[in-house]
Amino acid sequence: MLDHLKANNRAWAERIKKSDPDFFKKLEAQQSPQYLWIGCSDSRVPANGIVDLEPGELFVHRNVANLAPPQDANYLSVLQYSVDVLKVRHIIVVGHYGCGGVRAAVDGQRRGLIDHWLHPIREVWQDHRAELEAIADDTARHNRLVELNVIRQVKNVASDVFVQEAWARGQELSVHGWVYALHDGLVKDLDVTVRKPPA
Ligand code: CO
Repeated sequence: MLDHLKANNRAWAERIKKSDPDFFKKLEAQQSPQYLWIGCSDSRVPANGIVDLEPGELFVHRNVANLAPPQDANYLSVLQYSVDVLKVRHIIVVGHYGCGGVRAAVDGQRRGLIDHWLHPIREVWQDHRAELEAIADDTARHNRLVELNVIRQVKNVASDVFVQEAWARGQELSVHGWVYALHDGLVKDLDVTVRKPPA
C-alpha cells in the first residue's frame, strides 16, 4: 500500500544522507527551530518549502484558514511549547490568497462542523463589513478578507497569555502576519509585526 510514497521516502532520506551523513543523527538529538509557522492546511501552501527551511528549522501548526482561536487546545499546546520550551524568536501567521476556508466562511452555504470552525472569519467580516462591501471585485474583496483574517490572528497570538508572559520575562519574540500568493509563490509581509505587549 502506498508503495510510491515509501519509495519517495527512501529516496529522500538517501539524498539527505548523501549531502550530510550526520543529518538525521543531529536532528534526533535536538530540534532548535527559530520560527513557528501558523498556516493553512491547504496542500498548495507547504510551510518548509515556501521559506526553504530544512527539517528542524521550522515548527509548524496548520489548520483550515490558519486560525489562532484562543480556546483551541491544539493551537494553544503548539504555541506554549514553541514559546516556553523551544523559545522560537518569531511566530509567523501565514494566510494565502484563494483560501477555500476563508471563502467558505462567508458564502452562506452550510457544510457542517467546518462552519463552526470558520466562525471567527465571519466575525472578521462583520467587523470590517463597510470596507469589504465597498470592494466591487469579488477576488479583491476575498483577498482583503484573507489579509484581515491574518491581521486578526496576529492579534490573537500577540495577546495570548503565553506570549504576554514571554515578553514580561524579557524573551525576544515577534509575531508577524504574511500572506502567500499561489500564483507566483511569493509571500507578502502585511507589516503588522508585534514585538512587545500592545500599550
Ligand atoms: Co486556505
